[in-house]
Amino acid sequence: MLRNDQLDQWDRENFFHPSTHLAQFARGELPNRVIRTASGCHIEDRDGTRLLDAFAGLYCVNVGYGRMEIAEAIADQARELAYYHAYVGHGTEASITLAKMVLDRAPKGMSKVYFGLGGSDANETNIKLIWYYNNILGRPEKKKIISRWRGYHGSGVMTGSLTGLAGFHNKFDLPRAPILHTTAPYFLRREDQSQDEAAFTAQCVADLEEMIAREGADTIAAFIGEPLMGTGGIVPPPAGYWPAIQAVLDRHDILLVADEVVTGFGRLGTMFGSDHYGMRPDLITIAKGLTSAYAPLSGSIVGDKMWKVLEQGTDENGPIGHGWTYSAHPIGAAAGVANLKLIDELNLVAAAGKTGAYLNAALRAAVGGHAQVGEVRGDGMIAAVEFMKDPANGSFFEASDGIGAKVAAAMLDQGVIARAMPQGDILGFAPPFCLTESEADEIADKTAKAVAKVLG
Ligand SMILES: Cc1ncc(COP(=O)(O)O)c(C=O)c1O
Repeated sequence: MLRNDQLDQWDRENFFHPSTHLAQFARGELPNRVIRTASGCHIEDRDGTRLLDAFAGLYCVNVGYGRMEIAEAIADQARELAYYHAYVGHGTEASITLAKMVLDRAPKGMSKVYFGLGGSDANETNIKLIWYYNNILGRPEKKKIISRWRGYHGSGVMTGSLTGLAGFHNKFDLPRAPILHTTAPYFLRREDQSQDEAAFTAQCVADLEEMIAREGADTIAAFIGEPLMGTGGIVPPPAGYWPAIQAVLDRHDILLVADEVVTGFGRLGTMFGSDHYGMRPDLITIAKGLTSAYAPLSGSIVGDKMWKVLEQGTDENGPIGHGWTYSAHPIGAAAGVANLKLIDELNLVAAAGKTGAYLNAALRAAVGGHAQVGEVRGDGMIAAVEFMKDPANGSFFEASDGIGAKVAAAMLDQGVIARAMPQGDILGFAPPFCLTESEADEIADKTAKAVAKVLG
């Protein structure tokens, strides 16, 4: 490819990068990187630097880069029919087939899939459907949504409000009502360090019960949670958490939204995280792994109980007033069909479980004993290393020390991308499912070197 030497300048003058320090970038104080190509677990920039992507983009390129089967399905779809809408009963072979494939793989009790473009808009859809549902049932007061501190559900107005991370609220006038945040199921950071996992789970449940009692169950419509918290720190739930939360929600007639944007389609070594941890959701949010990010596509999987009421609503009020121009876009749908086929053919869900366990063990062996590693945790093909100033007395580093970012930078110097998670000193790993054991060894080895470089 001919090198365009103006690209750096154009980038800084024209391109608004998400989640970026805008002023530093414009001033040239932050490096830019122009990605040119990718294959398997590696990406390559236009200068020829090859990097092992241990975060699969933004934990989304689950089948790995450079899959020609998906590229060709997209090209074929674009040649045959690049676009038609899905309103008023229209569809394409790809979108209808994909809906069937998603339902065939979904947990029990799911009825239909609405397709959007990304995780944020899928959660916007979910909130609207929840409000519609309670209006049709004649419960106009039952509208509040309980989310969790450190949950991540997107960065729109409503979804940014659901998100429980300060960086997504500050200066944006978020969160907006009617969103409530309850305790993060984050064992390492529990307030009462004398609690064991069972006691901490009981604490999370008691906090939820207390919130419901305070607000009134007749004002609370739904609870939303990621099966395993992702962006908030890559935190598997404490033992028994989901069945205990589910029991509280059932008792108070509160819907459950499982946000499976990260966990859906295999990341935990099972098709869905809901089945993995014992959740019985009424709505499931899907995105990333649905197409492995070869094209933008998300979905809201609607359970039987809600679907019946949505049908009743349209009998009473006419067609549902919800939809995007690009809902069920044929190119995204074609990518989704090819992606799910590939996951089956290559048995990638089992691979994620097996190689993910290997990676988790390798990371524990490499850095688990370091004096300033508070925890190495994970499940399936996702893992995190959390750094602490002194694990013995429970103290964390100051945010201004930037330890997580420094370790991530030291990884990058060695050619491995790991993600410094946004809140806390947490190094995250979520590689493509095609990761090999030798690549897992390389990640663990370079993590040990990066930790030694930054923390000694
Ligand atoms: C659990 C979860 N939900 C929702 C989203 C938002 O998805 P998007 O960035 O596609 O809007 C993300 C993104 O990382 C996510 O991790």
